[in-house]
Order: sequence, then C-alpha cells, then structure tokens
Amino acid sequence: MSNGEDLNVAGAGPAGDGLDETALTMGIDPYERNWMRLTVALLVMFFTTVAIAGFAMGIQVTGAYQEVDPRTVLDTEPWATPGLRKIGDKEYEAYVVAQTWSFNPSEIEIPVGSTVTILVTSPDLQHGFKITDTNVNTMVVPGQVSKVTYTFDTVGDFPYICHEYCGTGHATMFGVVKVVPEGTLDEVSGDTGGDTDNEANSDEDDSQ
Ligand code: CUA
Repeated sequence: MSNGEDLNVAGAGPAGDGLDETALTMGIDPYERNWMRLTVALLVMFFTTVAIAGFAMGIQVTGAYQEVDPRTVLDTEPWATPGLRKIGDKEYEAYVVAQTWSFNPSEIEIPVGSTVTILVTSPDLQHGFKITDTNVNTMVVPGQVSKVTYTFDTVGDFPYICHEYCGTGHATMFGVVKVVPEGTLDEVSGDTGGDTDNEANSDEDDSQ
C-alpha cells in the first residue's frame, strides 16, 4: 500500500501528498548524480582559475591596449606615419598598420638586443600579427590597438605574418624584423620605418 503511494508521487500525481526530497531525487541514477557533481565542481574550478588569473595575476587577453576610430585612424598621428621610433637606448616603438593585404611597414630593422614595443591596428578588417620564433602573437581588430613588447637578443630575420584569414590576399600579408649586429645601423636617426619618407633609403646607404 505504501508502495502504491510512492509510485503515485513519482508519477507526478495530482496530489502533493508525501512529495519530499527522497521522492524527487529517486529517479536520478547515482552515477549520473556523481557526474553532475563533478561537472559543477569543474565549472566552479575553471571560473575560479580564470578569475584569479585575470584579476589577481593581471593576465589579460593579448594586446588590447587602446581604442581608435578605424575610419580616421590612418589620418591621425602616429598612425598617419607608421614605422619605427627610437625612444631610448636600444628601445623602440614600432607603429604597424595591418590592412588588406599588407603590413606598413613591411620591414623593421633594429640592432641586436633591442626592446621593441609593437603597436598594431587595422583600418579595415580583422588581421593577425605573429612574429616567427618569438612569443609575439596577437589579433589585430579594427578600432583597437594591440600592444606587445619583445626583446630581440639574436641576430637574424624574424618574419611576421598575418595569421587570421582575411580574404584573397591573406597569404601575401607578411613582413620582416631584421635584427642586425651592433653598429650596422645609422644610430643618429635610428629610424627605419615608414613607406612614405626617404629616410629609410638614406639609412641603408649610410650603413654600407
Ligand atoms: Cu590579414 Cu590575413
């Protein structure tokens, strides 16, 4: 008789009599219940990990540094004249425009041991910026400036590429960081950037 009553409750009978916790959980398999507990525990753990990393340790999404208007960014300094700026002894800032389908500048030349802060933005659509053999790897989103800093301690060519598919010319979007031995660059200007001015050319002449 009592069995009959229990069944009635489990089958969601019209009467609420005897509707207690035991009856509600009766239908869940113990194994399934444990898996559910594990799932909830993992979710809590992951959220906690992300919260600690983001807020306590300051680990944020790569790059996101500043917002700009993608429609006017190329008419505004410093983006109107992208390229390399020397800001100290072996310290540089490189303003790089990633656009369909090229980088400006497509070549950055620095003496070995230089620390370069690279700021990248896009006036059109989403691109990527990755320098081979380094941990420099960021998205380039229109309206946003991505900022990464890297010290180049070995002489050589470090190609940079767009690694977000951005259309038919995607494969042609690349450039190179040339890390040259001490004293090979014109240290007076130290400026090798920009496609529009002649300084880059005169620098190359001087260094021969
Ligand atoms: Cu730009 Cu792919």
